[in-house]
Amino acid sequence: MSVMRDLAGWVDARFPMSKMWREHLSEYYAPKNFNFWYFFGSLALLVLVIQIVTGIFLTMNYKPDADQAFGSVEFIMRDVNWGWLIRYLHSTGASAFFVVVYLHMFRGLMYGSFKKPRELVWIFGMLIYVVLMAEAFLGYLLPWGQMSYWGAQVIISLFGAVPGIGEQLALWIRGDFVVSDATLNRFFALHVIALPIILLALVVAHIIALHEVGSNNPDGIDIKKNKDENGKPKDGIPFHPYYTVKDIVGTIVFLIFFSAVVFFVPEGGGWFLEPANFVPADPLKTPEHIVPLWYFTPYYAILRAVPDKLIGVILMAAAIVVLFLLPWLDRSPVRSVRYRGPLFKMALTVFTVSFLVLGYLGTQPATGIYTTLAQIFTILYFAFFILMPWYTKVDKDKPVPERVTK
Ligand code: HEM
Repeated sequence: MSVMRDLAGWVDARFPMSKMWREHLSEYYAPKNFNFWYFFGSLALLVLVIQIVTGIFLTMNYKPDADQAFGSVEFIMRDVNWGWLIRYLHSTGASAFFVVVYLHMFRGLMYGSFKKPRELVWIFGMLIYVVLMAEAFLGYLLPWGQMSYWGAQVIISLFGAVPGIGEQLALWIRGDFVVSDATLNRFFALHVIALPIILLALVVAHIIALHEVGSNNPDGIDIKKNKDENGKPKDGIPFHPYYTVKDIVGTIVFLIFFSAVVFFVPEGGGWFLEPANFVPADPLKTPEHIVPLWYFTPYYAILRAVPDKLIGVILMAAAIVVLFLLPWLDRSPVRSVRYRGPLFKMALTVFTVSFLVLGYLGTQPATGIYTTLAQIFTILYFAFFILMPWYTKVDKDKPVPERVTK
């Protein structure tokens, strides 16, 4: 034991190991009333690790070459030892990432975690979300199936809508006049190196920013306002061991669901791996319906709700950009939905329903009633943000208690 202590002392004299452990774990005081919704940050970290580890093993057998990519994925699935498991963990992991991140973001909306002083926590989170979407989009080209190919074709061609430089921009992104081997090579480089590095850096920044200001909680109360004689928040408990142990419960439950999908329904009925992607990319044959995976479909529905391509692209980008502005659009002094007035509750419900309905509409053909519905729900989606400064100001919020409740 004393050898271990000596070793720790030797390291501590040269690197702030114990200091970091104390600041971020054993003496990081988190509110004692974290609930179900607070599992998803640690689960996002878990999925990030799963994606990186399985990604490394996939890369050992994958070939980023238009002639070999599809075959190399089949080789991984059939001939590489445990290759099928590694691939399914990674493909299901991508969807699990978005499930977890969407629930994590929804928690932020419910409890006003984006509000002062956590604006930067939110901004780093939003940057993570944007990079995560780019990462998923790039990764989807790699198996070189029909949907990989045509999905990339559709999304890259959107850049063509930018006035003046659009066509040049799309050409620059593809590295060719159509999606080709050059595109596959650069997408591979970005997917396995560039974006993961950015993602990791952003996650570190996200957590540093959070630990600087302290975690919010389901009551939205500032626990630092009530401290005991030792200067510790009365409503706080050390993250370790209390929340490390609680997070193990979340991790186990998550892994049960995750393994059930990986082992029994890895394609998720076409939601996690689309049927058309089991067919090799064919530049001469466009699939009947080009549909992105489920996590992009709300934005895809917004894009297609507008007849004009450029306006569609602008609205789709705006749908993401407005989320960055939330900390400044919300003018209520109250954070948590528990103590907000009826207007905010209604607005959040309408917004959530709109996001889900748009997600469904994005999977359907953009015709007739589907387009009309997409237009209505696009308006409702934006109304949540545009009207926010008004309804959060006039809303009849309830009094917020001094101390956390349950
Ligand atoms: C790879 C993705 C992400 C990881 C690994 C991650 C990790 C974490 C962790 C570990 C926490 C603390 C535990 C918790 O509160 O659940 C946290 C808190 C938070 N995250 Fe994330 N996060 C990610 C993405 C996002 C995104 C996309 C957003 C929003 C746009 C976001 C917004 C927040 C906010 C506002 C908090 C503070 C919540 C509170 O104190 O109530 N995060 N994140």
